[in-house]
Amino acid sequence: MKNLITGNSFLAFGVILAAGISTASADERAITYTEDIAEILFDKCSSCHNPDGIGPMSLLSYEEVRPWAPLISYKVEQQEMPPWHLDKTVGIQDYKNDVSLSAEQIAKVVSWVENGALQGDPSLMPSQPELPDAGQWQLSSQLGEPDFVVKSPPYTVSANAQDQWWVRNTSFEGLIDEPRYVRATELKGSYPLGVKVLHHGHAQLRSSDNQGNRASGPVGRQGVGKGGDVFPDGTGMLIYPSGSINWNLHYFPINEVVYDEQAEAAVWLYPKGYTPEFQTRGEQFFAADSGPGGLWANDLLLPPNSIKSMQGVRVLNRPALITSFRPHMHMRGKAQSLEAVLPDGSREMLARVDRYDHSWQINYEFGEDVAPLLPAGTMLMITSTWDNTADNPNNPDHRQWVVFGQRGVDEMSHLWLGITYLNDDQFEQLKAERSARLTAASGE
Ligand code: HEC
Repeated sequence: MKNLITGNSFLAFGVILAAGISTASADERAITYTEDIAEILFDKCSSCHNPDGIGPMSLLSYEEVRPWAPLISYKVEQQEMPPWHLDKTVGIQDYKNDVSLSAEQIAKVVSWVENGALQGDPSLMPSQPELPDAGQWQLSSQLGEPDFVVKSPPYTVSANAQDQWWVRNTSFEGLIDEPRYVRATELKGSYPLGVKVLHHGHAQLRSSDNQGNRASGPVGRQGVGKGGDVFPDGTGMLIYPSGSINWNLHYFPINEVVYDEQAEAAVWLYPKGYTPEFQTRGEQFFAADSGPGGLWANDLLLPPNSIKSMQGVRVLNRPALITSFRPHMHMRGKAQSLEAVLPDGSREMLARVDRYDHSWQINYEFGEDVAPLLPAGTMLMITSTWDNTADNPNNPDHRQWVVFGQRGVDEMSHLWLGITYLNDDQFEQLKAERSARLTAASGE
């Protein structure tokens, strides 16, 4: 190890130059944990890699980090960690919740490890990061306490089994006394074990009032790596005082029985009497409903040892603003993209995930000024690619035929879109507001 440390310092210097980092200090001295790396890990890893987090190990001190250094370098260089699986070469690149490392940060981590993963001067260690409290609502720091919380019926998750899921309804009564607009929602497993077993889930509310008006939409959708949903300012989801919640929860066992697990969904409302300008029905299920092969259920068939792509389209019959993109396939899933073919015939790649990993259900939230604002008649094209070969490390068995199904070893293809449908005036208004912002920002 000693030899490696001293022998490699020259090499590390070369890597830094190649990556174009030009700060004098980093060129002149070795990269060290306390001075260079700790702040990157605190900022980009510690929210999960802490004793209470979903990461398998804590990364809060040199002692904790050092044994993992080679694997950290590998995962960071492969862009598997932090979990952000977008293809950075195509499509929209500005996201509100981007947790990925910059090219410079990646180069720094890699060269630090090549250089022997030195600790450096302990007195230069940055102060410990503030850690999220896994028992708290993540959105409460931004929005305060929720207006109400609903709980799923209890379910005992066995210690060792295949993944498990169920669907059941609970009633929704007495939590609001008049029609209200939802501002934000968040769904999570209970603390401390439920948060670890809940892989993804939905709490879909169907509500009505006594005049027969009805509305349906999610009071929470969860997935590993996905946070709560906050609608853009002035956008809300209408709910009525009575109805039922359809719970659809999917668990992965964790080697330990989790008794009577109850997932919880929190809802933040707009003030009473407020009618938002834009109405949404929340994050929506989105599969192609036409086109070659379609993409749902019966068409899905993967031969053993094959790579296969399928494509399907869906036409927007009204203008829409798309605020987020969350791909969903299972263990053979490799890539999924969303493209728009506009009524003028032009075609635009909106977003593509090229390192899909079913362990993660990441919601990619578009930056405000780049969120796709699409006219009526736009065709949305979904392309899914599966790798059912032995080269796919997530593939449990490349000798199997794979068909559609709910289990992780079966396959699926759909995505979840944060979408707000607009009327023509709203569409023109949002377009004008955006171009005014962009003009102002460009200093004209
Ligand atoms: C959103 C939560 C989250 C963030 C942020 C995150 N990780 Fe992870 N990490 C996990 C989870 C969960 C796993 C285990 C599942 C997996 O590998 O996907 C993991 C696995 C790993 C592993 C592999 C461990 C093993 O035994 O195979 C390494 C190394 C790692 N993370 C390093 C990092 C580094 C370095 C960062 C920051 C640059 C980071 N992670 C950011 C949650 C996270």
